Amino acid sequence: MSNLNEETILTVRHWTDSLFSFTATRSPSFRFVNGQFTMIGLQIDRKPLLRAYSMVSTNYDEELEFLSIKVPDGPLTSRLQHIVEGDRILVSKKPTGTLVLDNLLPGRNLYLLSTGTGLAPFMSIIRDPETYDKYERIVLAHGCRSVAELAYRDLIARELTDDEYLGELISEKLIYYPTVTREPFRHQGRITDLIDSGQLFEDIGQPGYDPDRDRVMLCGSPQMLSDLKIRLLDQGFTEGASGKPASFVIEKAFVEH
Ligand code: A2P
Repeated sequence: MSNLNEETILTVRHWTDSLFSFTATRSPSFRFVNGQFTMIGLQIDRKPLLRAYSMVSTNYDEELEFLSIKVPDGPLTSRLQHIVEGDRILVSKKPTGTLVLDNLLPGRNLYLLSTGTGLAPFMSIIRDPETYDKYERIVLAHGCRSVAELAYRDLIARELTDDEYLGELISEKLIYYPTVTREPFRHQGRITDLIDSGQLFEDIGQPGYDPDRDRVMLCGSPQMLSDLKIRLLDQGFTEGASGKPASFVIEKAFVEH
């Protein structure tokens, strides 16, 4: 039996020249935990060409959604960026990943720190009711070069607070912190620098994070992850994994496509 489902593209949205997202049908048998990723791709020369993608959509959505960069000479994204409604994609039946609530110990505030397409798994985590049961505050920081790359900004900042089921919880508990490095914006600078200077915590009215009470998930470029990991370890945070919950977890935003 094949490990892959074939799904149909429903919508495609191009955010910038180098960033797009798309929705696809979801086989009812495809189950996952919010925050996980799976391998997806295209059939090329009768062989599957697959890369890891986090689900933007939640485990209760009828459709699947993914966020992707476009790499001009990337084996997969150079082709995937041209998909249109009705095209077929391959989706592995075996989702996995460390950015799941069960890999963290209970805590007070949950910090979701992302750059670029590292936002994707957090889109499903911020729409998971369990997140709001487990934490008092959820801080979603997203760092990009430009304002146009702040994907889903309107959804997070506006539409989600009107959501019939989650709107009230989200308005009360979710703090969205978009920041941009290469043009003017209300928050500017790299997440690392904003943490080092204390600016991020000042802006959101929180006292800074504390390894005894707060939890962190990281998703972004390898350099961003290693820079933040060093800081967290220095401050006494410990890295969690499946079956070994701790105070932070990490996953690479899959950039080499
Ligand atoms: P910068 O513009 O200063 O490089 P990219 O598009 O290269 O993936 O970067 C996405 C965002 O992540 C950009 O705002 C970029 O800032 C920022 N960034 C790059 N490297 C790091 C890092 N080591 N720590 C924190 N943010 C980073």
